[in-house]
Amino acid sequence: EVWNPSGKYRVVSTKPMPGTRWIDLLVQQDCRVEICTQKKTILSVEDIIALIGDKCDGVIGQLTEDWGETLFSALSRAGGRAFSNMAVGYNNVDVNAANKYGVAVGNTPGVLTETTAELAASLSLSAARRIVEADEFMRAGLYDGWLPHLFVGNLLRGQTVGVIGAGRIGSAYARMMVEGFKMNLIYYDLYQATRLEKFVTAYGQFLKASGEQPVTWKRAASMDEVLREADVISLHPILDKTTYHLVNKERLSMMKKEAILINCSRGPVIDEVALVAHLKENPMFRVGLDVFEVTKQNSPFTFPSSFIIQLSIHFFQDEPYMKPGLAEMKNAIVVPHIASASKWTREGMATLAALNVLGKIKGYPVWHDPNK
Ligand code: DGY
Repeated sequence: EVWNPSGKYRVVSTKPMPGTRWIDLLVQQDCRVEICTQKKTILSVEDIIALIGDKCDGVIGQLTEDWGETLFSALSRAGGRAFSNMAVGYNNVDVNAANKYGVAVGNTPGVLTETTAELAASLSLSAARRIVEADEFMRAGLYDGWLPHLFVGNLLRGQTVGVIGAGRIGSAYARMMVEGFKMNLIYYDLYQATRLEKFVTAYGQFLKASGEQPVTWKRAASMDEVLREADVISLHPILDKTTYHLVNKERLSMMKKEAILINCSRGPVIDEVALVAHLKENPMFRVGLDVFEVTKQNSPFTFPSSFIIQLSIHFFQDEPYMKPGLAEMKNAIVVPHIASASKWTREGMATLAALNVLGKIKGYPVWHDPNK
């Protein structure tokens, strides 16, 4: 699909993206916009090289693509100086390779914060109240009438929510759970927590002033402290080699037997084989997962080319999306990486991605540069 064929700058989008504002923005600034409409869900490096062609000023790409040496050198040979992921996460982008070939990189933070946090909150509630299991039970025609023990779950009010990774999304999720359900909070982040600290301080003052029952919160000294103490734990770190399998067999065993674990970050943060075993042994333990360890999405691309684990992940390319056993677990809720999937957010992500690329082409600052 081509917009403004006579435009001076050639910008390629590897996927159709929601809304039209992003196209308007580019067209108004003299860009020829080419959108790849191939049916294939995930484009290979070779597919993208063909899209880049001989002349390309900028590319908007997706988190399912392997933006490493090969693609950045191809883009640079075609005269391209700008690339934006339509995602806040950029674990599929080798930023060093982009720098080496003089290509600016952008990502799309901010517009997806609340939407992603809302999905983490939805999964928390669905897991606590066993909504998916109950829905399946109804549809299977098994409901005979009210029973005192039918689908008894957990009350969130007064329980402790644990947040690992207190960036934008983790903080928004914490705010929803504390304000909405009066949960106590424990959080852990190596690098940042100011945003969340400001919220809890202000909220504490508000509760006091309005005479409401207080909730407690603390910044944990270690991640393990969160795992041991919290009833609902939501993971919000970035994926890099320090967070790969952050939640492993040993850490799962630290958690309460009836805890709920939510992951809307990246799949490889959890050791999924260990998780399946844990779910089998602990039927009251529940998970809500938006992302999976081995998916066509992140194999073989999850790590930049420099990371050795990429080699082993290549071999998983044809495996099912979830690790064996996960789909059969009644205590797991699984959804297909839809945390940012609200209309407003997805259109916003597309617009930010276009602004990133446009900024570089026109010599303005790149809207969101994850390097800075
Ligand atoms: C991201 O932006 O990184 C999400 O995973 C998809 O919205």
